[in-house]
Parts: sequence; structure tokens; C-alpha cells
Amino acid sequence: MTEDNEEMVVTPWEVRGEIDYDKLIEQFGVQPMTPSITERIAKQAGFVHLQLRRGIYLSHRDVDWWLDEHNKGNRVGLYTGRGPSGHVHLGHLLPWFFCKYLQDAFDTELYFQMTDDEKFVFEDHLTLDQTIGYTYENALDVIACGLDQEKTHIFSDTEHIHHLYKIALRVSKRVTYSTAKAVFGFQDSDNIGMIWYPAMQAMTCFLQSEREGANIPCLIPAAIDQDPYWRMTRDIAEKMGYYKPAQIHAKFLPGLGKGGKMSSSMPETAIFTIDPPEIAEKKVMAAFTGGQATVREQKEKGGDPTACSVYAYYYFLFEEDDSKLVALENECRSGSLVCGDCKARLAKIISRFLVDFQVKREKAKDNLEEFLIN
Ligand code: TYM
Repeated sequence: MTEDNEEMVVTPWEVRGEIDYDKLIEQFGVQPMTPSITERIAKQAGFVHLQLRRGIYLSHRDVDWWLDEHNKGNRVGLYTGRGPSGHVHLGHLLPWFFCKYLQDAFDTELYFQMTDDEKFVFEDHLTLDQTIGYTYENALDVIACGLDQEKTHIFSDTEHIHHLYKIALRVSKRVTYSTAKAVFGFQDSDNIGMIWYPAMQAMTCFLQSEREGANIPCLIPAAIDQDPYWRMTRDIAEKMGYYKPAQIHAKFLPGLGKGGKMSSSMPETAIFTIDPPEIAEKKVMAAFTGGQATVREQKEKGGDPTACSVYAYYYFLFEEDDSKLVALENECRSGSLVCGDCKARLAKIISRFLVDFQVKREKAKDNLEEFLIN
């Protein structure tokens, strides 16, 4: 429970309350990340990714097995996705940057699912035309992350359904309504599109294997909110003749407000990749911090980086250098750095990041077609 007594809720559709990751690992029955997995991935990549160094990947399922398969010389694959319900924010980019790192390190195909069907059936306020429109917009962000054009296969559930439907049907026949209810908490008032949809998200775990006619171990990088899908999929995979998919779970990038993950439903505390840099700067300057109420108090008592959304952005994304991060933390705690200056520094970094990302996003329009499955 948080101070406000808000219970932690983490589902694929809702994340609220203060997140207790240890409790989540226990509740979801996943394995905590280990230094040995980090070392094995880093050895293959030639460097330790910031997200691994900082413990942003907190847990996994069978990553060691996926690495073993790769070591044996077997082909391995990656899968991740996006529910196009709006514009992409910085939180979404976290697992996509990590996919790029893994794709480069392991020289793998990446299947990237755009669930325009999911967002249409789950979100009352969205029309199908809107989710299809966001699919196109969001695909530009995926490409701007620098993924390999030859090895990245983006597809939308509605547009490319002829590649997907047969596998999804086979998945759906293996999952009873009672299992779906237990895993996802469906209610009688939910529409039947919602109940069908998990077959679509599960199906992609097997898509590369189906297309290549070989059983290919699949690893899914995503934040931990998506885990219920994999729980369901892992139960049926072997019965369908495939390996169980492996996962690596990220923590959530917080929003710029007090507590909670970055979420499109709170646009004032989220930074979108299409935000004009000056708007993003304003959002950062209005962020909740771990500082004291006044500059004087801050200088006397110092701040608390662990409670600070601004610090979280340096930590998760924008301060690559560990020693500089420690220096920032020390300056904050000692009171020698005040929140206004710390925010202004971050605002400039994010603004530069957006300018660069938006150029890549624009360029992506020229080669979008090359990334789509056919
Ligand atoms: P969606 O669109 O909600 O999220 C896309 C990806 O971003 C992750 N994510 C975050 N990561 C860190 N910090 C945050 N604040 C944050 N918010 C979202 C999500 O975990 C996800 O990895 N149903 C899915 C679409 C999907 C999918 C998949 C996702 C289909 N197949 C396979 C991951 C893997 C969805 O709506 O994601």
C-alpha cells in the first residue's frame, strides 16, 4: 500500500500504486535477474548495457536457457510489441533500445507486433481507424530506435492477419475461458474481442518458428506488465510443439509526477517522442522532485534522489556515465545541487535527444515498407 493506501495493481492494461518489485517477482512467479545472466549477455555484446548495469531488468523467465541455445550454435529470436493507443513516450523506448542491443549482440530476427486490434477492443474511446493510424505513427518510432532493417519484421494485427490467424486459432483452441479469466481477470461485461485478443499476443511467440519451419527459441524483452500473456503462452507452448518463450522484464520508467509509471493517459507527466522540444523542457521543469520545499532548505538538508522523478531520467536513460551519476546523486544529497538547476540540465539533454530522435523518425518514413513483414 502507498501512503494514500492505493493498492499495487500491475496488469497489461493498468499499472497503479507504488510498485513493489520484489512482491511482483513473487506474485508473478518469475526468476530474479542474476549477475551471471548479465555477464553472459554483456560478453556476447562486448559491453554492459546501461539497463543491465543499473538493474532495470529485474526478472526473467528462462533467459539462461535461451543463452544456452545460442551458445550451442542454434538460432534464437526476439519478439516485442506495442499497443498503438496514442503516441510513443520515453517509457516505451526502454525495451526497444534494449532489443536493438540484443539484436546487434546476438544477430537475431526481431518480430515486432502492433496490436491495433487490442487497443480497439480494450479502449472504449478509440476507433479502429485511430488505432490503425497510431500503428503507422508508432512504427516510425520503432524504426528510429536503430533496429536492423533486414532483421526486423514489423506487422499490424489487422493489416497482416493472413500471416497470423492460423497460429492464433491454434492457440485459442488450447486456452479455456476459465484460464483466461484466471490470468486476466475478465468480467462478464467485457466484450468478446478482449477475450480473444490474448491468442493474438501469444501467437507471435511462435511466428518466427512457423515462418522458418524450425523451432526457434524466442526471447521477449518488455516491461513486467506484459507477463500475464507469457504465463498463459508458456502453459500451451510445448503442447503445440514449440519451445516455451523466454522473457526478460524491465521496471517501469516513472512519469514526471509523484509516483506511477510514465503513461500516455497522463500526458502532462509523460514525454512523447513527438513533443516539440520546448514543450518537453517545460514538462521537465514542472516535474516532481525529491528536493525540499525551498532552496534554502535544500542547501541545508539536501534532497532524496530515490524519490525524485528527475533523477530517475538520468538513471534510466540520460546519464550513461556511472561515475557522473554517482556525483549527481552526491550533489543532490549534500544540497550543493538545487532542483531548478538539475531540472534545467535534464531539460536540455532531453531536448537534444528529441531533436535527434525526431530526425530519425522523419527519415523512417522513407523505409517503413522495408520493415514490414510480407
Ligand atoms: P504497450 O504499448 O502498453 O507498451 C509497449 C512496451 O512498452 C513497455 N512500457 C514501458 N516500459 C518501461 N516504462 C514504462 N513506463 C512503460 N510503459 C510501457 C511495455 O511493457 C511494452 O513492452 N499489449 C502490448 C503490445 C504487445 C507487446 C507484445 C508488448 C504485443 N506483443 C510483446 C511487449 C511484448 C501493449 O499494449 O504494450
